[in-house]
Amino acid sequence: MWTKKDLQQLIKNNMGDYLFIVVSNRQPYVNVFKKGKMVCQRGAGGVVTALDPVMQACNGLWVAYGNGEADKKASDKYGKIKVPPDKQNYMLKRVWLTKEQENGYYYGYSNEALWPLCHMAFQRPIFRKEDWDYYKTVNEKFAKTIIEEVGDKKAFVWIQDYHLCLLPKYLKEMAPNQLIIAHFWHIPWPNYDAFRICPQRKDLLESMLSSDLLGFHIRYHCDSFLDAIDREVESKIDRERFSVVRNNHETLIRPYPISVDFEGINELVNSKEVAEAEKAIKEEFDLSGLKVLLGLDRIDYTKGIPERLLAIDKLLENHPDLKEKIVFLQMGELSRIHIAKYKDLNDEINALVEQINWKHSTENWKPIVFVRRHMSLEELLAFYRIGDICLVSSLHDGMNLVAKEFIASRTDESGVLVLSQFTGAARELADATLINPYDCEQFSEGIYAALTMPAEEQKKRMKKMREITQSNNIFRWAGKVISELLKFEFRE
Ligand code: G6P
Repeated sequence: MWTKKDLQQLIKNNMGDYLFIVVSNRQPYVNVFKKGKMVCQRGAGGVVTALDPVMQACNGLWVAYGNGEADKKASDKYGKIKVPPDKQNYMLKRVWLTKEQENGYYYGYSNEALWPLCHMAFQRPIFRKEDWDYYKTVNEKFAKTIIEEVGDKKAFVWIQDYHLCLLPKYLKEMAPNQLIIAHFWHIPWPNYDAFRICPQRKDLLESMLSSDLLGFHIRYHCDSFLDAIDREVESKIDRERFSVVRNNHETLIRPYPISVDFEGINELVNSKEVAEAEKAIKEEFDLSGLKVLLGLDRIDYTKGIPERLLAIDKLLENHPDLKEKIVFLQMGELSRIHIAKYKDLNDEINALVEQINWKHSTENWKPIVFVRRHMSLEELLAFYRIGDICLVSSLHDGMNLVAKEFIASRTDESGVLVLSQFTGAARELADATLINPYDCEQFSEGIYAALTMPAEEQKKRMKKMREITQSNNIFRWAGKVISELLKFEFRE
């Protein structure tokens, strides 16, 4: 089994004098003002959840967009700051963007074009020429920042996600012999029929082939990517090596299912801080005597939140005896709110919660508690401890780390995971109660099956899922990518 130490050792023994740089849009820590004071918070979402423990283990440099209102004040004149605030074991370098750049590159091309293009959630992608221009400018800006950091050294650069598709091309143009590049795609890769509507598809694909190693969560996404290459880019696909050769350069395509820091969570979950947070949440929401169903998501249309609320509604319609016995506690972190669809979704959720609570509530009880707020890691783990059942109902999801965090938090092996069959996680976690979020009746019966599952059966399933998550942990994911990366040689 891969441990944090193994990863540290791998890097220490093999990285030599080479730099190790991770680059993503979302930064792992953000500085904000709270009640006039500057505080440093951990960022939300899968990339941060996965890579923060990796970077803590190997103290490299993380380059990301500095979007926090207090970021400039907290960083030095080069935009650098040591994080996490209490341990300070790696360096974060912030890239500054203008409002127009953020609009076009982040809200526009990344999240109104690429995000819906890659997720089959029946949300039409919007391709605007101005957004694409900003996407190019910002990718180039990231490239220049990295090249400045590299100077005359050599570096392994590990790019994250769909915001930075053009970065491999710019980087290799600027420093052809100094960089070895891996790119990990954290979201699904769509099948060709969906992908081919993208006007910029060729530019995206060609740039991605400037990487040396390209990772997706599952083999299915690798296959879909190769399909797109096959149809769009003149190149040679080597099915045996699982690689693409173009202009004498080979890109390896590999599946690496991402995960969580299982051991780290196991340690922290039994701490005094988490116990205190657990007590506070139970008191705040008055949960005593109730079976607790949990949901935890960024408020995003891919996560199937309305579908989840409707399944709860159906459950109470079909099983009215559950009234006053259960509560559904949903935590939602507001996300990408400047995009109209996200705002509409938020309004839709509010209306649904209101309507379902009105329909089923009694004098002393309502079925749904919906809370929107940012949680610290300790609060997050407390939250996972409180639930009897965790509901993950994504319409489409690359992996979904909420499912794996829930499992890692259940040290007493109790609890049931109800999981959408359309998540990458469903491939590994076959002992979850699998549901189809588009099928309200089947989804609600899945929840009922989870609620009535005997304790022994719960334990048997949870134990198996914990073993899988423990061995396929985040250090294995990073270890596999980095081991492959270290096999490449720098060009002379
Ligand atoms: C997904 C993406 C990440 C992203 C996260 C949060 O997990 O794969 O790249 O950071 O969502 O979204 P946000 O837009 O808030 O960064």
